[in-house]
Amino acid sequence: MATMASILPVLTLLALSQAQHALSSSSTVCIIGSGIGGSSVAHFLRQYLPESVPPPNIRMFERNGVVGGRIATVTVAGETFEAGASILHPKNFHAVNYTKLLNLKAKTSSDSFSMGIWDGKTFIFKTLQISCKLPFIDKILSLVNSVYMFLRYGLSLLKMQNFVELTVDRFLKYYDELESRPIFETVDEMLKWADLYNLTTGSLEEELVDVGLSPLLIKELVTVITRINYGQSVHMSGLAGAVSLAGSGGGLWSIEGGNRQMVVGLVNQSDVVLHLHEEIESVSDLGDSYELNSTKGNSYTCEVAVVATPLDELNIQFIPPISIPKRKLQHTYTTFVRGLLNPTYFGLNAVTEIPKLVGTVEDPDLPFSSISVLKQHDEKEATYKIFSRQPMVDALLDNIFSVRKETIRIDWAAYPHYHPPEVFAPFILDGRHLYYVNAFENAASTMETSAVAAENIARLIGSRYFGKLIFTHQGLPASSHKEAAHVDL
Ligand SMILES: Cc1cc2nc3c(=O)[nH]c(=O)nc-3n(C[C@H](O)[C@H](O)[C@H](O)COP(=O)(O)OP(=O)(O)OC[C@H]3O[C@@H](n4cnc5c(N)ncnc54)[C@H](O)[C@@H]3O)c2cc1C
Ligand SMILES: *[C@@H]1O[C@H](CO)[C@@H](O)[C@H](O)[C@H]1NC(C)=O
Ligand SMILES: *[C@@H]1O[C@H](CO)[C@@H](O)[C@H](O)[C@H]1NC(C)=O
Ligand SMILES: *[C@@H]1O[C@H](CO)[C@@H](O)[C@H](O)[C@H]1NC(C)=O
Ligand SMILES: *[C@@H]1O[C@H](CO)[C@@H](O)[C@H](O)[C@H]1NC(C)=O
Repeated sequence: MATMASILPVLTLLALSQAQHALSSSSTVCIIGSGIGGSSVAHFLRQYLPESVPPPNIRMFERNGVVGGRIATVTVAGETFEAGASILHPKNFHAVNYTKLLNLKAKTSSDSFSMGIWDGKTFIFKTLQISCKLPFIDKILSLVNSVYMFLRYGLSLLKMQNFVELTVDRFLKYYDELESRPIFETVDEMLKWADLYNLTTGSLEEELVDVGLSPLLIKELVTVITRINYGQSVHMSGLAGAVSLAGSGGGLWSIEGGNRQMVVGLVNQSDVVLHLHEEIESVSDLGDSYELNSTKGNSYTCEVAVVATPLDELNIQFIPPISIPKRKLQHTYTTFVRGLLNPTYFGLNAVTEIPKLVGTVEDPDLPFSSISVLKQHDEKEATYKIFSRQPMVDALLDNIFSVRKETIRIDWAAYPHYHPPEVFAPFILDGRHLYYVNAFENAASTMETSAVAAENIARLIGSRYFGKLIFTHQGLPASSHKEAAHVDL
């Protein structure tokens, strides 16, 4: 006669095989958006779902003709440059892992470098031309250690570095072992767990005053950096502000051939059915599944739906409607010019006197946030990248440049306009299986934070959808909640 102890495993196996049947016949995860967020959700689902779970179908929808989203390249006179996200921090560990996994090459640039802070009339600060093998933002911060910087800003520079290091260290908790790291149902909970939440409730300026930075450093160097990285002033929230300063440790890097190689590789390796040129226009909850309709007139059914793009400027119809806090996106106009700057615009005599990176202070009359040399081709020609909050019209460019052979303009709905205290949209939009990766962007918007949020979403899907389906199927006792912990990724 079989004992209870021997029957139970048989029952479990039976339930498992039935659940597997249900899963293999029907599970589809639909991902809207093929940026680093969407591709990371696909990657971590493939990596984390246990073998007992039949692999789901993953469909990914992208309205553009290429994957990558805000990680993109632009070609100026036959040469390729980053058009969107360009720099990675050495402690961006998902990006580090993607690079290894996909056999990509990390690189740093090697041009000579100098920086100046332009106030619209004069350079209020200028470094000497230095030669080092670092990308440009990195170089600003390598300059932090320079004599010039110390003469102007003093010990405040060290306080700034401490503040940034403390914040980066807190962020590292998101790489803790899966066993000791909770799966977060809300952004608030996720930030509080790493002691980062409170940085989203005040402005960067307030945080920096709190840690004792001088007003001069905040008004000049810090402002230059937030304007370059987020197109915003030091009134932006503290956490995103700290992230934008996080280059101070040095060692910033990017991927040879373009950061988008990460996304291309992840999509390729994650066994995804990719629908390019297909924009999702509605998501309807049918009870047990979602129906996604596209502008191509197609209709797709999925048990799990993931929104991996900011919803703020989109027109996706949700049925029933969902509600998320209002959020404005900061538009960053990125203008590439092949030509030569006009020294007269800067009140200088020779183009060689213009710093390689022109940063700016906060002044509504300034028509751009920064101008940097991406590549010096020869004395008479370089490729420049300009960031501005308004489009750079021809008449303005004709003032700033003496020679202009090629101009490319991109209007990015770049990142949230950070406004403390930040209010976060939910990761789980409907209490069921509709997820939102970009809820985390109100904390900070970077390639790595998208990957970190995506990993959490993959774990949420694993535990809330797949865990539940397997272990509560066919009347397994409620105590099976404990067993579900094995699938809690
Ligand atoms: C100019 C600029 C500079 C930046 N610099 C840096 C940097 O140096 N370092 C850094 O780490 N980060 C940087 N960032 C931020 C970084 O680019 C983003 O945080 C990150 O790439 C966001 O990735 P995502 O996958 O969440 O969103 P996205 O990359 O925006 O991906 C969303 C995708 O969804 C698609 N989509 C939208 N709606 C639909 C729909 N209805 N149907 C189908 N598809 C849809 C979009 O076309 C897009 O491809 C920068 C951003 C900009 C704009
Ligand atoms: C990176 O990959 C290694 C080896 O696979 C793994 O141990 C580590 O946890 C990964 N790091 C992150 C942040 O996922
Ligand atoms: C966050 O907490 C620190 C101390 O832990 C405090 O100094 C700081 O003022 C707080 N910031 C906000 C915005 O509440
Ligand atoms: C896609 O992956 C396969 C192996 O899985 C590899 O051979 C191929 O080169 C990859 N393609 C791209 C574009 O990365
Ligand atoms: C989606 O498409 C299906 C099939 O064409 C249609 O029945 C349904 O009404 C559409 N949903 C919406 C919200 O338009």
